[in-house]
Amino acid sequence: MAVNLLLGLQWGDEGKGKIVDVLTSNYDIIARFQGGPNAGHTLIFDGHKHVLHTIPSGIFHKTAVNVVGNGVVIDPVIFQKELDNLAKFNLDIKSKLLISRKAHLILPTHRLLDAASEASKGKAKIGSTLKGIGPTYMDKTGRNGMRVGDLELEDWKERYQALTDKHLKMIDFYEADIEFNLKELETTFFAAIEKLKELTFIDSEEYLNSAIKNGKSILAEGAQGSLLDIDFGTYPFVTSSNTTAAGACTGLGIAPNKIGDVFGIFKAYTTRVGSGPFPTELFDEDGATMSKVGMEFGATTGRPRRCGWLDLIALKYAVEVNGVTQLMMMKGDVLSGFKTLKVCTSYNYKGTEVHHFPYNVEEHNVTPIYTELKGWKQDLTGMTTIEELPKELLDYIKFIEDFVEVPVSIVSVGPDRKQTILK
Ligand code: GDP
Ligand code: IMO
Ligand code: MG
Repeated sequence: MAVNLLLGLQWGDEGKGKIVDVLTSNYDIIARFQGGPNAGHTLIFDGHKHVLHTIPSGIFHKTAVNVVGNGVVIDPVIFQKELDNLAKFNLDIKSKLLISRKAHLILPTHRLLDAASEASKGKAKIGSTLKGIGPTYMDKTGRNGMRVGDLELEDWKERYQALTDKHLKMIDFYEADIEFNLKELETTFFAAIEKLKELTFIDSEEYLNSAIKNGKSILAEGAQGSLLDIDFGTYPFVTSSNTTAAGACTGLGIAPNKIGDVFGIFKAYTTRVGSGPFPTELFDEDGATMSKVGMEFGATTGRPRRCGWLDLIALKYAVEVNGVTQLMMMKGDVLSGFKTLKVCTSYNYKGTEVHHFPYNVEEHNVTPIYTELKGWKQDLTGMTTIEELPKELLDYIKFIEDFVEVPVSIVSVGPDRKQTILK
């Protein structure tokens, strides 16, 4: 099948960037289909760490073309910084990185609106990355947004000004205490726009569909995670795009019947950054160990990630919504040394045991019910074959496979590209 999808099954940061990088040699094209610089995708190889926000994670491979699809929102300033970080690699960016004319632009005032909206929410804030994601998608669906292709039109600055003026009134409306110097922000923004205009803009749906006709293979790279999906996530504590499989169709212009495998990435435990419900969250020593050993700090904001046990009810829900055909388990190495591992296999929902992910998973409604499995002591980080993995880890994987009824095809045992075991 021409197009495979790779997406996160939890609340993001599952390790998508690492696996896209590992799989890129099998594909002609890697395409991001939603989200924007709220994402932070970490790749580690040859002793160096790279964090990508908007640029697809196939960029370091010589052969693959990387497409930023129409469903993505682009902040020209952050995009420029990402490109600057890539400069030393001498990549042929003009031909290797193609940008959809239909992708929407994040303006400086979108970021200010994000900050004002969050400040006005007080304790109920989403915990947004403050990259302007929500306001930009609001302008997209509100039919007011600016797109990359607009930059090729003569009057784009007038359109920019009209939208910015409107945003300034909206910022006033929030009466939030945020300070900013718009002139400074605009100087940086306009300089970044000029750089962006040097890149290759394409009608990406046309490009991708011709590629499919010509027998090319495509890997669509998701951002965020299924539980942050605008429809299926823990609303309103979600992001503003469809992070699930259907988002790849709308975010790239690819028909559902062109989709083959759906690779679902999950951590062997669970993390979440930002606010919102998290039934299996831990506040004890076990959670602290996951956080410390897993180095659980956001790749975009540096915020500490909340940690907890693997939630199989949530995982099964994500597998169903996405039609996952293969699972990839990340960070099993972080669980080495736990005597017992708990996995959530049902919820006590308002006093009744349930086996599905309910509408409202807030703490006062849901208590996780756990099954205990035996842990393992061995350090996995040097292991390279399935045969070397401890029996308890293989049992843990088998339990997950049986529960969600999808096989695990990759086990990741460390952050480096090489620490990846095919099962
Ligand atoms: P993404 O947003 O899904 O691409 O994931 P992030 O890059 O935000 O977060 C994943 C973090 O875990 C990064 O710091 C990775 O380097 C790291 N990582 C990925 N896979 C593994 C693994 O198997 N073991 C360990 N210990 N770290 C991993
Ligand atoms: P990757 O692609 C983890 C979270 C934020 C916040 C909520 C809304 O690296 O997995 P937004 O900025 O989108 O308005 O924030 O979503 N969030 C992420 N959490 N990984 C991400 O991306 C995230 N992108 C957004 O923390 O709770
Ligand atoms: Mg991330």
